[in-house]
Amino acid sequence: MDRELALNIVRVTEAAALGCGKYFGRGNKVIADQAAVDGMRSMFQSLDIAGTVVIGEGELDEAPMLYIGEKIGTWEEGAPEIDIAVDPLDGTNLCAKGLPGALSVVAVAPKGCLLHAPDMYMHKIAVGPKAAGHIDITAPFEQNLFNVAKALKKDITEITVTMLDRERHKDLIDKARSVGARIKLFGDGDVATAIATCFSDSGVDILVGKGGAPEGVIAAAALKCMGGEFQGILVPETEEEKSRCIQMMGDKWNRVLTMEDLAKGNDILFAATGVSDGELLKGVRYMADNRAKTYSVVTRSKTGTIRFIDTIHQLDKKPEYAYVK
Ligand code: FBP
Repeated sequence: MDRELALNIVRVTEAAALGCGKYFGRGNKVIADQAAVDGMRSMFQSLDIAGTVVIGEGELDEAPMLYIGEKIGTWEEGAPEIDIAVDPLDGTNLCAKGLPGALSVVAVAPKGCLLHAPDMYMHKIAVGPKAAGHIDITAPFEQNLFNVAKALKKDITEITVTMLDRERHKDLIDKARSVGARIKLFGDGDVATAIATCFSDSGVDILVGKGGAPEGVIAAAALKCMGGEFQGILVPETEEEKSRCIQMMGDKWNRVLTMEDLAKGNDILFAATGVSDGELLKGVRYMADNRAKTYSVVTRSKTGTIRFIDTIHQLDKKPEYAYVK
């Protein structure tokens, strides 16, 4: 894929963050999410790509835009055929409640390279570059913690495990504490937290637990670019979800999904823009003179470059993003 696409997908996540940023802290997650979708989609439509959404806002019958299977971009002759995974607003609750950690994220890859993941839960384990190659989602959890500690040249008591603050994670929390590791819980947004494992100063070493499968694929794409590792196992919770898995993946639906299953090859792009402040990125800032500032990151697996981009937007020239008074 053309490397200029990297800058264009930042425009896409910026548009989504600006779309929902004006609803930050206003208590309505549905409106905030829709505004992120609208912003993202209109920017995508201007790009010279032949894109297909493989992970998006759900199926056609439940999502009017950015649904799985939707064709995105100009689709002009010669435009590159690409898979697109989107989460216009990861952390809808965080945005509505004015809490930190909400992000707009996109991953793109050549056609056929991103897992077409059903919208259900996934067991996840993710680490940064130094611990890549030292995790196994099928091994006992405590064993993973000791292996990661060894790879990071840390004592187990210096390892911080992060996971969604959910009742279902009680067993993981107990096990981690029983071997002396520290726990850092978070409310929502496990794409950002998976990425945090790639930064040694983020204060987290390993992400585990059950979260959304689409977020899992997007996180895997990001970690592919940043040199980390992600493994997942789909967790259908109903017979209907199970048959959907079988329909999509055959009898291999319940095997371990590796980086190559989730984000295949070495031509992956990932971009994110902060909606609210987080450890990776600041959220949208509204400034004097009808301007707004966004903070984004974009990375490519081919080069491993991690580029942070700060942008000042003139909102009088983009009235659709004007601040809601
Ligand atoms: P949304 O913003 O799309 O609702 O997702 C937020 C999120 O926290 C994801 O990051 C995570 O994978 C998933 O929800 C966890 O699901 P649940 O809230 O059901 O535990």
